[in-house]
Amino acid sequence: MDPARYRSLRFDPLKEEDLPVLYSWLQAPHVREFYHKKSVPKWEEMRAEYLRRLNPDWPTKCFLTCAGMIPMGYIQAYRVADYPEYAAMIGEDKGISLDLFIGDARFVGNGWGRLILLKFLNEVAFPLFDTEQICWIYHDTLNGRALSASRAVGFRHVRDFTEEGDLKELLALHREEASARGLGVVSG
Ligand SMILES: CC(C)(COP(=O)(O)OP(=O)(O)OC[C@H]1O[C@@H](n2cnc3c(N)ncnc32)[C@H](O)[C@@H]1OP(=O)(O)O)[C@@H](O)C(=O)NCCC(=O)NCCS
Repeated sequence: MDPARYRSLRFDPLKEEDLPVLYSWLQAPHVREFYHKKSVPKWEEMRAEYLRRLNPDWPTKCFLTCAGMIPMGYIQAYRVADYPEYAAMIGEDKGISLDLFIGDARFVGNGWGRLILLKFLNEVAFPLFDTEQICWIYHDTLNGRALSASRAVGFRHVRDFTEEGDLKELLALHREEASARGLGVVSG
């Protein structure tokens, strides 16, 4: 993994002025294919939904992913126990989870996804939820790009489950392993 690109990544807490670019990304075919499969909400609905998430008390923490000065994606993290229905669906009650997409299509499929996952886990998600030791992520079993990116940073298959009729793969990565792999990237 490329240390220079790893260093260039920033995660800025999501702000109201970021919502228009987020809305445009949600319409992109590569995002809708797996991340936002339902019809895209109207701007006002989406804005209201994301404004709630900007409240510091909201359990999901939301970030704009930037490569240097260029905003290129979105990522969010949350404690599994804060979402009992989600916990029941994945069959786990400890740890954290995250969801992400690269919105700017120019950055898709070039190795950024794995760098984002690793840096976000080490520098944002695990420090934010400092008592949690494991991160879960799940992908559609047809989402080869996401599965490859997650496996590349050490996420390992736990089990499959179905969500609204689609087969999903649950993967997990422990805090120490993420930390060791992150150190491996920055030390070259
Ligand atoms: C998922 C996502 C973050 C991954 O980031 P990325 O930068 O595209 O991924 P990477 O370049 O790090 O890795 C892509 C891997 O998928 C492989 N790949 C690319 N296209 C593929 C395809 N159509 N089918 C299977 N594998 C594919 C690449 O070869 C690479 O794997 P390898 O290095 O082991 O060969 C990004 O593609 C994305 O935002 N997609 C849309 C939203 C989404 O699916 N989000 C995940 C749901 S939580």
